[in-house]
Amino acid sequence: MAEDLSIITGSKQEQYQSLLPQIKGLLEGEPDLVANLANTVAALKEQFGWFWVGFYIIKNDELVLAPFQGPVACTRIRKGKGVCGSSWAEAKTLIVPDVEKFPGHIACSSLSKSEIVVPVIRNGNVIAVLDVDSEELDQFDTIDQYFLEQIVELIDF
Ligand code: SME
Repeated sequence: MAEDLSIITGSKQEQYQSLLPQIKGLLEGEPDLVANLANTVAALKEQFGWFWVGFYIIKNDELVLAPFQGPVACTRIRKGKGVCGSSWAEAKTLIVPDVEKFPGHIACSSLSKSEIVVPVIRNGNVIAVLDVDSEELDQFDTIDQYFLEQIVELIDF
């Protein structure tokens, strides 16, 4: 496994296309979930420099903070609450161009301006979410959705 990530410039699509096989390589042969989540968020943070990127995993019917990169964050989120809890409840990716306009958004940091949350679905059930926050408005679109959905599929939960 290569421990060095090759960071590229270019369009967002090109950046994801370079990153995806590298994340695949990082996960290959490693069965430990925490190690794999940790390296996945580290790789995303290194390539894109987002403000916050991390996982929440459902435990006892709550989302509980899991490996992340960025400032400290809220540890527990209930189903239907905030962007993460809504993505869980609706079992779909939510793109929020301006978090202040999302009713019930949970502000872990006032610096976060836009957000995308991708649910991790296994056997038809949401078991975790990947949350990405940016300090800029309107940072996420369907390109992020397309690739982040593929990236969470690579992880063996
Ligand atoms: N903003 C999220 C909470 C998690 S933090 O941003 C890390 C939400 O509304 O669910």
